[in-house]
Amino acid sequence: MTRRILFQIHWLLGITAGFVLAVMGVTGAMMSFEDEIVQYLATGRVEGKAQAGGSMAEAVSHSFSRMTEGDLAAIATYLMDVPPVANTGSRFGQGEAGNLTAQFRGLDTTDLTDMVAGAQIYSANCASCHGIDGQGTRDQYYPSLFHNSVTAGDATNNLLAAILYGVDRDTPTGHVFMPPFGTQDNAFNALDDAQIATLANYVVTQFGDGRTQITTADVATIRAGGPSSNLVRIVQGLMAAGLVLVLGIAVWLLRRRTKARP
Ligand code: HEC
Repeated sequence: MTRRILFQIHWLLGITAGFVLAVMGVTGAMMSFEDEIVQYLATGRVEGKAQAGGSMAEAVSHSFSRMTEGDLAAIATYLMDVPPVANTGSRFGQGEAGNLTAQFRGLDTTDLTDMVAGAQIYSANCASCHGIDGQGTRDQYYPSLFHNSVTAGDATNNLLAAILYGVDRDTPTGHVFMPPFGTQDNAFNALDDAQIATLANYVVTQFGDGRTQITTADVATIRAGGPSSNLVRIVQGLMAAGLVLVLGIAVWLLRRRTKARP
């Protein structure tokens, strides 16, 4: 009798565990880090972690999303083999929901501290999609800005580029669009460098780890297309040196000819 009951309990537990594992597998709760890289390359996003904007969005739209799963898995295997960049803690657990609405409501914008001024710009331009508390939408089509790789860490370039240029990505799983806030024709609102710096500092402090603060000059650099590459300067230097050499040879030849004349 006890054996039969024990057998039944065993059987029931087995079925429940199987069911839970199946649900986890189907919903992606058991996704390995490698699977996440494959999904990121194929669709440009991993919910609650990262999304591709800028040139990475272009690479996803035009290249990675068209590759076979086998090739993407091979890339993921290779990436997992590369030693990670040293970082203090995970970039996916940082920040929390919150807002400073009570601190700017009814006040004149000139009276606000930088942090509250940033909150006000956020509320006017970003909250309609990313939520007043930065939580995004329930389906995360509009992503949460906390627990997001873009709002934490040392590199704020991606955050500034997302604000200035928006996000435009087309993959077999759908079209993703965030309007730009630069001077484009389809800009939601043209924010200047100082406004974007104030906004970005609010975003990284409220929703990220606030490790890096953004200056107006940082925004100007990204607006100009990013830091200029040394390679361009080296090539320009080589071209100038080449020109001097050619001119030198020409002068030398000319002089030789005038000397040679009787
Ligand atoms: C009309 C809706 C909308 C508005 C307004 C909007 N966003 Fe977005 N935002 C999106 C969408 C959609 C994405 C892309 C999600 C994805 O890539 O899957 C996105 C992505 C982002 C990202 C991640 C970009 C990346 O490269 O990973 C950041 C950061 C961001 N938005 C910040 C902002 C800020 C700050 C504002 C206000 C200036 C703002 N957004 C306004 C819709 C919007």
